[in-house]
Amino acid sequence: MSLSVLILAAGKGRRMKSAFPKVLQKLAGRPMIDYVLTVAKKLTSKVIVVVGSQQEILREHLAGSQLEFVEQLQQFGTGHAVAQALPKLSDTGAVLILSGDVPLLTDEVVSQLIECGSSCDVAVLTSHLDNPDGYGRIIRNKEGKITSIVEHVDADHTQRLIKEINTGIMVARAEFLQEVIPRIEARNGQNEYYLTDCVRIALELNKKVGSVFLNDALLGLGVNDRAQLAVTERKLQVRKVENLMRDGVTVADPSRIDIRGELFCGKDVFIDINTVFLGRVVLGDGVTIGSNNVISDSEISSSAKILSNCVIQNCFVGRGAQVGPFSHLRPESVIGDGGKIGNFVEIKKSNIGTMSKVNHLSYVGDSVVGEHVNIGAGTITCNYDGENKHETIIEDAAFIGSGSQLVAPVTIGAGSIVGAGSTITDNVNADSLAVSRVRQKSIPEWRKRKKSIKNQ
Ligand code: UD1
Ligand code: CA
Repeated sequence: MSLSVLILAAGKGRRMKSAFPKVLQKLAGRPMIDYVLTVAKKLTSKVIVVVGSQQEILREHLAGSQLEFVEQLQQFGTGHAVAQALPKLSDTGAVLILSGDVPLLTDEVVSQLIECGSSCDVAVLTSHLDNPDGYGRIIRNKEGKITSIVEHVDADHTQRLIKEINTGIMVARAEFLQEVIPRIEARNGQNEYYLTDCVRIALELNKKVGSVFLNDALLGLGVNDRAQLAVTERKLQVRKVENLMRDGVTVADPSRIDIRGELFCGKDVFIDINTVFLGRVVLGDGVTIGSNNVISDSEISSSAKILSNCVIQNCFVGRGAQVGPFSHLRPESVIGDGGKIGNFVEIKKSNIGTMSKVNHLSYVGDSVVGEHVNIGAGTITCNYDGENKHETIIEDAAFIGSGSQLVAPVTIGAGSIVGAGSTITDNVNADSLAVSRVRQKSIPEWRKRKKSIKNQ
């Protein structure tokens, strides 16, 4: 049977109190609607999104995703939203209705629902919540068959005690929707057209209603406000960490880690508290991550150590290297095997060779540093002349004395030494010593002389 997917995303998201559409709020760093789209796209090429409130922003976000859009200019409820899409739905086939604010559904769950839907007119996905406040409740008869769904605001005291809830996800035959959706009325506490009413109407018309119960309630959670966003975020993080731990990663405290993207770990990785991983991060075997780091889109090779309080963006850190504490590795930097980057060091778009060290208080930008180089404390590569960036090349085994400035473009030859406190503006030949500072003077009896000048 052909399948279309309809994603409801036109709602105001009033409870979020945001200038942006609710479905663009991020969970684990990713807009909620993107999760829903990923599931939808795997099922069919016919994905229709109902947009309305703040639709310009949403359409811009979804541009290029090969979707069909349906406008719901005024948001009169989920039933009304589906009604706007009826002209785009064929009269045959199945329609899976997803909600832009129910982001964690999986392919397996959806397939199960579609399977159930293939033998009925409409099938809903339900789950159990200890605190079902705000959700539609599933009303079943003595035989256990669903008879209706009652929204929280319309539910009476006994109905509110029911903990089986409607996830908002359903699958229906297209012809069923064409027949039933126009019959939905807005006679309820919110004066809205409730999609959920199609269950009651189905039974009145002797149609077959099915349901699938979702054991793992997290996968069907709806996110309406920032409190639910935070709760869902934490639950999702815990789930991600559990998977990591199952794969052999030691996490100091599973409640103090944030993975906003994908984190791939080798064996025997240790992650201390409060690190945020963004984008795609790969940690090799035996990597140690200290506390309070922010690591985005980077690869940290085996046995490397990232000490506390570092920011690492789009970098490659070689095997056995050590970074931190308090280092900032900016995009397109490579730290070679066994390299050391220490306290208050900023590396930008530079290649630091194998076993080279930049241990304290330095800035190395737009540079190519060879192997076994030692860059002393407080060294600055002066890569910017006010208009353009220039490159610094430091060849193998060079030694840069503390407090030096290397004015780019400049090359420091292999095995050479730059004397501490030098300002280097010309290339330094291999194996030579370059010192540019003024020779130290010593003026005897300076204090006495100053006093006598004052008294004159
Ligand atoms: C809905 C269900 C409720 C269920 C809950 C699960 C109805 C009437 N209620 O309630 O039974 O327990 O989801 O999360 O369906 N939308 C539109 N147009 C509108 C209104 C909403 O496109 O006019 C979209 C929203 O953008 C959202 C989705 O439909 O993505 C659900 O709407 P929302 O207002 O969040 O419904 P709930 O009150 O959560
Ligand atoms: Ca909702």
